[in-house]
Amino acid sequence: MKPTRIAGIGYSVPEAVITNDDLTKLYETSDEWIYTRTGIKERRVVSGNETAIDLGLDAAQNAMKKSGFKPEDIDCIICASSVPPQLYPTLACTLQMKLGIPGNVPAFDMTAACTGLIYAMQVARGLIGSGIYKTILIVAADNNSKITDWTDRSTSILFGDGAGAMVVTEAQDGIDDIISLKISADGSIGHYISTDMPGQCCPLVKQADKVGDGKIKMNGKEVYKFAVTTVPKYVEECIEASGMKSEDIDYLIPHQANQRIIEAIQKRLKYTDDKVISNIKYYGNTSAASIPIALCEGVEQGKIKLGTTAVLCGFGAGMTWGATVVRLREGIC
Ligand code: UT7
Repeated sequence: MKPTRIAGIGYSVPEAVITNDDLTKLYETSDEWIYTRTGIKERRVVSGNETAIDLGLDAAQNAMKKSGFKPEDIDCIICASSVPPQLYPTLACTLQMKLGIPGNVPAFDMTAACTGLIYAMQVARGLIGSGIYKTILIVAADNNSKITDWTDRSTSILFGDGAGAMVVTEAQDGIDDIISLKISADGSIGHYISTDMPGQCCPLVKQADKVGDGKIKMNGKEVYKFAVTTVPKYVEECIEASGMKSEDIDYLIPHQANQRIIEAIQKRLKYTDDKVISNIKYYGNTSAASIPIALCEGVEQGKIKLGTTAVLCGFGAGMTWGATVVRLREGIC
């Protein structure tokens, strides 16, 4: 396998902020209830004509700028998106055009919900490793707020919108930045988080008994139990596969779904607070974008020093989950 270099990472979040107090205008809840159960104080949402395309474009431009690669250097685009603004043209095709990436370059979306970034990294790593493509743009962008049921207080408190992007390329110096990476799925528990698409059968045939409403449905308790039992052990296995010891890794940058889940992983790794990156308080769960947002913001705020290593992990609908130990080179974000 040819080694992969992580060349640039970027992110973007919308301007509009919805605080926990704002949510009390929609249903009976409180800042205290939400904050103690989830660690969330506020989240960002798209407004007006803004969509995940705008966020994805901004994140991609930031990542490309950091990477030093120009649009003509990108030879494949992968978007990790579960809630794109349109089913087609795909987010990847739209971003190809908006970024000025040549029209013959392949572009496709893939869905692995909140684990999307790590799944996309695995696909990109395989394509680069096998020599099929040299430089791949990954964009993780979702319009969560558009499929959130804003009358359901147990799910709508959690989600926010945002985008993250990563440019990965063949490492010319032979040093692989993706030291280990594992992804998994279990469809038998897929009903824990689901969104049934609306749509009727042809009017000439019998109609389905139920028509989806296109909103997120979640069994929060089961997702929580799954996350705290499966993910910490999985992260440990990924670290073991990297040949490193958890104490040798500088940071844990987990998917931002619930502060208590983040703490369960932290406890398993016996990490002190300064090694764990959490910004869920300000953004909620931005699905596949949450890891790059936490990583880049952590660098901006001086919580993360580059020239280090980190373990990233995610989980979400599917159910899917994944983890990767990566090298964070100087200048990537
Ligand atoms: O990437 C996707 C990942 N998703 C997750 O990570 C979700 C993981 N799960 C969770 O974070 C938690 O399950 C939640 C924070 C979503 C919910 O916490 P919970 O402790 O599981 O609460 P619950 O849904 O079992 O509800 C307990 C009570 C219920 O009242 P009763 O039936 O006991 O009277 C709810 O109606 O809390 C009530 N409740 C609320 N009360 C005030 C639910 N949501 C709210 C709310 N404000 N927003």
